[in-house]
Amino acid sequence: MVLVTGGTGLVGAHLLLHLLENGESVRAIFRNEKHILKTKSLFNYYQKNDLFDQIKWIKADILDIPSLEITFENIQYVYHCAAKISFDPANENQLRKVNIEGTANIVNFCIDKKVTKLCHVSSIATLGDLAQNESVLSETTEWNPEKLHSDYAISKYGAEMEVWRGQQEGLDVVIVNPGVIFGPHFWNQGSGAFFTTIKKGMPFYTKGSSAYVAVTDVVKIMHQLMHSDCKGERFIVIAENRIYKDIIFTIASAIHAKKPKIEATPWLLAVAWRTDWLLSKLFQTPRKISKQAANSLLSTEIISNEKVTNYLKYSFENINEYMTRIAVDFNLQK
Ligand SMILES: NC(=O)c1ccc[n+]([C@@H]2O[C@H](COP(=O)([O-])OP(=O)(O)OC[C@H]3O[C@@H](n4cnc5c(N)ncnc54)[C@H](OP(=O)(O)O)[C@@H]3O)[C@@H](O)[C@H]2O)c1
Repeated sequence: MVLVTGGTGLVGAHLLLHLLENGESVRAIFRNEKHILKTKSLFNYYQKNDLFDQIKWIKADILDIPSLEITFENIQYVYHCAAKISFDPANENQLRKVNIEGTANIVNFCIDKKVTKLCHVSSIATLGDLAQNESVLSETTEWNPEKLHSDYAISKYGAEMEVWRGQQEGLDVVIVNPGVIFGPHFWNQGSGAFFTTIKKGMPFYTKGSSAYVAVTDVVKIMHQLMHSDCKGERFIVIAENRIYKDIIFTIASAIHAKKPKIEATPWLLAVAWRTDWLLSKLFQTPRKISKQAANSLLSTEIISNEKVTNYLKYSFENINEYMTRIAVDFNLQK
């Protein structure tokens, strides 16, 4: 039996579908019954309602030890997709709790219940910081704790440390580090919210870059790595490095939204995050842009996917074609 955490989120729901299509028996955890409906709706979107009925759901929280005790009965493989994603500095404690302590709990149960292998979903946010003589980020780039990192990045880095600790204690592990993941149906959370924000009207673009990948590629790679001999390795999972302007303009065309006209220069972003900070203090509202987020919007670092493409002989789906395809689902929303 295979356990999936985060099965009510974009990655976990797609992973559940992929595992069931490949004949695996799956158990998934949920915290709120209503959120299971999101996964059900996704299976309906792919016309796989029959497979949805095969998921064995258990109510559990990765921070709640007694609930995990029942969850881990007779589990051989674990895919850990559950996490908190937020770039609001006000969520620092919650990020550390869910992502680091939650992952430590999953690792401890894997060891205790003698799980065969754990696949942990991390992020490109945990990739290291380029030294002066380096030009491309890879799995071996070293993390420099003295550099500025978002609370999310620190929490996901801490989560990886827990997974490596598990490996030291005898657990077989593999880590994937996806870029920004695009996928259908989860339009109000995570990266899906990007489409929603562009639809509402985004005034600015930047010429910084990031790396992108289709959710279907992420889950296929996780499944292949789980069933490979590979252990104690991490793999960057990205299809393409692209500048924000390109990505925003492609999405805007696909969802019939206005394209932003103003380039957010370093100066403008510096004003924006400071103003945002002030407004959040005055009105006690969530932050929209932090200093770290502003920096990352201007970053032009290139990330390599060479390791995974060579190891699995994997070809990624073209990001423009994928975004255009999932935009059809976005446009059908009520
Ligand atoms: N989306 C991206 O662009 C992206 C990029 C790189 C890496 N990642 C990583 O990929 C993984 C999956 O992301 P996603 O996009 O699928 O996120 P998502 O759509 O926000 O889903 C997050 C999932 O985690 C669950 N979760 C959160 N806290 C939990 C807790 N305390 N106990 C149990 N479950 C909990 C949520 O359950 P509820 O429904 O109960 O809230 C939900 O199922 C995460 O590890 C994330 O860091 C995502």
